[in-house]
Amino acid sequence: MLNNYVKTFINQMARRTGINLTDMHKRILEFVYNYYEKHRVGPMYRNIERYTGATKEDLERLFPHGLNSVYTWVGIPIQSVNDLCKPIADVKVDEDREVYLDYNATTYVRKEVVKILTDYYNSKTGYGNPSSSTSLGKKAFDAILNARQEVADCLKVKHSEVIFTGSGSEANNLAVKGIGFKYIETKGHIITSQIEHPSIIEPVQFLGMFGFDITFLDPDQKGLITADAVKEALRSDTVLVSLMAVNNEIGTLNPIAEIGEICRLAEVPFMVDAIQAFGKIDLFPKEMGITMMSLSGHKIYAPKGIGALYLDETVSLVPLIHGGSQEFNNRAGTENVGHIIAFGKAAKLAHMEMKSEMKRIQEIRDYFLDQLNRYCPDCILNGSLKQRIPTNLNIGFPDIDSGALLLSLNQIGIYVSAGSACSSGSKEASSVIKAIGVDTDRYGIIRFSFGLQTTQRDVDYLFTYLPGILDQIKNDG
Ligand SMILES: Cc1ncc(COP(=O)(O)O)c(C=O)c1O
Repeated sequence: MLNNYVKTFINQMARRTGINLTDMHKRILEFVYNYYEKHRVGPMYRNIERYTGATKEDLERLFPHGLNSVYTWVGIPIQSVNDLCKPIADVKVDEDREVYLDYNATTYVRKEVVKILTDYYNSKTGYGNPSSSTSLGKKAFDAILNARQEVADCLKVKHSEVIFTGSGSEANNLAVKGIGFKYIETKGHIITSQIEHPSIIEPVQFLGMFGFDITFLDPDQKGLITADAVKEALRSDTVLVSLMAVNNEIGTLNPIAEIGEICRLAEVPFMVDAIQAFGKIDLFPKEMGITMMSLSGHKIYAPKGIGALYLDETVSLVPLIHGGSQEFNNRAGTENVGHIIAFGKAAKLAHMEMKSEMKRIQEIRDYFLDQLNRYCPDCILNGSLKQRIPTNLNIGFPDIDSGALLLSLNQIGIYVSAGSACSSGSKEASSVIKAIGVDTDRYGIIRFSFGLQTTQRDVDYLFTYLPGILDQIKNDG
């Protein structure tokens, strides 16, 4: 069905081009419109033929300006031929399966955590204000304390060194701006890297506007920031080094303990964005020279909108949110008790299962790589194979539009991320991928990331259809 707005649009187009609308015109336009509504990309000729019966020749006769003009008739945005999101493959599947391979983007909430949340929202855990002196308030306070201890135990730190925040991004902002505002009078020098998450890059650049001097270290070709690079960049006025443990796009693992030792000797606070690393590798700040470290709930099967910052007891920050004395005066506002206790539980579970789960995933990852070599020998792996976590593979597909590949996989229930997804309205290649020197004109970049529910059967499902999809996209591109 077409809505009135689209019908009016089509009638206007008909008047402007002098085309007499036939039933076939309408059938094609309706199909193209509905297809776009569902997939956010226009269909290829072969889809149109399959669903409307109109051949490529019919289409060219009915719409003399070609397929792009059909898109225009129903308001599908087309900037230019080069910007155009390529059509997606037409794939028939034998089984109705959903394969989630986007755990780096976010995770579902695991059932043990759902239980914690339901109990809380059913008022079983204490809905009181944790700052209240009543026994209801005490119950909520104790629940938070327990969660704080659970997170602290994972890191082998004191519970008073864990500050809960409203997201991982907030934890990153609190660390960077919290140090920056301490030195707002004297300013100083900050070291970070080109491949940090925007929630580090943006606050660092914000401090740059106040007069801080920023060094953005380049990763090497394997996507790593070396300890030597940090050592060389350090200056007598350096007030902060902020580097991620694991990169969210390419999964590479920086030599955090080595860098931490350099910062410790130089007496410079070392902030680590560990949002993609927490629950996947051991992170012990006291042994690794880490002063601050950010975590996020929705990467470890807790809800979105909860994060934490580890803050070494010897360091103080200027808070982002001023007000009450919650979170040891570091973050005002009545605590999100439900999310905090959910986060504590998820952290504990992740750490209990870490060794066996990472081993299981590594086997699946290796199997994935074998299949990739077999079916797509020209593909490239972005980032070091050795220095990486097992839950991520970032792959470059030669001569493939990553947006078209993402949407083709999405169509058959496989969910991944793209280094440049036209569906998100941007054809710009990822800055991380560019920073490690990948030829982004040649390769379409897709991130596959694995988690608790990933199985070898998921990989088999993917590779049953991937070769055919790649063929179609290449031919039709
Ligand atoms: C490395 C890294 N840092 C920070 C964040 C932001 O975390 P949040 O989504 O909880 O704000 C993410 C989320 O993707 C991330 O991957």
